[in-house]
Amino acid sequence: MALTHNENGTDRPSTPYWRIDPEMMADPGKLREGLKEAADALRGGGVIAFPTETVYGLGADARLTSAVEAVFAAKGRPSDNPLIVHISEVSQLDGLVKQVNPAARKLMDAFWPGPLTVVLPVKPSVLSHRVTAGLDTVGIRMPDHPVALALIEASGCPVAAPSANRSGRPSPTLASHVLEDLAGSIDGIVDGGATGVGLESTVVQVLDDGSVTVLRPGGVTLEQLAQVAGAPVKMDPALMAEAGSGDIPAPRAPGMKYTHYAPQGTLSIVAGESAAEVSDWISRSLQEAEARGERTGVLAFDEHISRYHADCVETLGSLSDLGTAAHRLYAALRRMDEEHIGFILAEACPEDGLGAAIMNRLRKAAGQTVIRLESQAR
Ligand code: TXA
Ligand code: MG
Repeated sequence: MALTHNENGTDRPSTPYWRIDPEMMADPGKLREGLKEAADALRGGGVIAFPTETVYGLGADARLTSAVEAVFAAKGRPSDNPLIVHISEVSQLDGLVKQVNPAARKLMDAFWPGPLTVVLPVKPSVLSHRVTAGLDTVGIRMPDHPVALALIEASGCPVAAPSANRSGRPSPTLASHVLEDLAGSIDGIVDGGATGVGLESTVVQVLDDGSVTVLRPGGVTLEQLAQVAGAPVKMDPALMAEAGSGDIPAPRAPGMKYTHYAPQGTLSIVAGESAAEVSDWISRSLQEAEARGERTGVLAFDEHISRYHADCVETLGSLSDLGTAAHRLYAALRRMDEEHIGFILAEACPEDGLGAAIMNRLRKAAGQTVIRLESQAR
């Protein structure tokens, strides 16, 4: 039975809510039973939020235009931004895409189920045109989460699922984040606890010559891809430009051009060669903002966190464990809004491993505002 969730018991229509506890997750029979109503709703054209190992997704039958349109409407998402299609079995690919080249197959073998989305040539007339936003390709992934896999399987649908946030808000890593953004506008939420990685999947395009282009950095790192691909792996030039300087060409992953994850306050990233100079600069700027009467916030690593005084201090864990930073980032950004913080500074981190995805999301949240300190030590 679905519980219903009605914030304050007031005017909003209630949202069916299914809690899947760890004991149910570990037992396939109980899991199927617990997901029955949600799977029925998906199959009937409903829109259901569910956990994956990256972030919560807002799922709909990818073949059904009315269901996919309901996803765009609930999120307030621009219609030229295509959705990722989620599958639970590799055999589902045959019905959805024209072909899978050997290099793409190799990456799927290595990383599925997992946080990797592969862009492939879509078969005509199978998926709703609203999923692909008019492109001749579709992004497909198999999530590594027992609830997501069981729900997709029980629904019998390829499941189109963007992150389950209102467009422009940080992606949800808890069911409560989904409720904050979408209660009353969707057909139900499956609560499977906190997501794992905390940032979205890596989106790649794999050419027939085996070369791999990362269109969106995410849970699978460039280094991991290179190890398996045995061929060059490069970042989309637009991402390279964002990470460095110069003109920014239009990105090839359509969604990357939108300002995502923006907190309500003004967020700036602070980078520099000397960690001591970065934290000096941040502490001083926080003090100045406080003196101006602003509410202040800081996102920083354990190594320097004790140096900061602010209304909202969020630690991203140690610089030596960027997995923790990925896991905490979106919840930390949401907290800045909850605390009505107007002036926010974030420490930059090195861009290797998961650092590439963390900095990509931070830059988007900051509207690309990076303050680079010239070292005084030289
Ligand atoms: O981890 C994830 O991928 C999450 C969870 C729910 O699975 N989903 C997710 O979906 O992040 P969404 O809609 O927020 O991101 C979809 C992005 C698009 O904005 C675009 O950048 C890229 O994936 N994408 C999708 N289809 C594409 C295509 N055919 N070609 C290029 N990029 C595509
Ligand atoms: Mg998203």
